[in-house]
Amino acid sequence: MLEKKETVPFSGTKEQEESLMKVIAELKGEKGALMPILQKAQDIYGYLPIEVQKMISDETGIPMEKIYGVATFYSQFTLNPKGKYQISVCLGTACYVKGSGDIYNALMEKLGIVGGECTPDGKFSLDACRCVGACGLAPVMMINGEVYGRLTVDDIDDILAKYE
Ligand code: FES
Repeated sequence: MLEKKETVPFSGTKEQEESLMKVIAELKGEKGALMPILQKAQDIYGYLPIEVQKMISDETGIPMEKIYGVATFYSQFTLNPKGKYQISVCLGTACYVKGSGDIYNALMEKLGIVGGECTPDGKFSLDACRCVGACGLAPVMMINGEVYGRLTVDDIDDILAKYE
């Protein structure tokens, strides 16, 4: 099973592809080349969509299963792009006991994505995070680094509307 739901169409440029080919040409054949190739590929594209994994597989001869396995195993790699607005909900203990799980679920429902994904228009991505050191404001979420505290599910629409 190599297909994964893509939320944003792949839109790599020729320049990005050339940079990737250069990286592969430099590293291929070296032992353990896959990790550095994937790291550089993520630097170039910002994430590792199936299309990029396929290019790496074609150029290196490394099977897709192996590339997909490594890309999904290590948390440093992401298969989904980040949104223009990156929402991060704190699921640390203080926030969680004050209902941040409900906020997180409500955001998934409203945006139509699950954690780790990005909306198809590229606008919002959603992630959970650990304590951000603002427990006094629990439950907390951040949008591009801006902190929203003492949240209730009813606040979400108004907050999202600021970014529409
Ligand atoms: S647990 Fe959420 S800010 Fe500390």
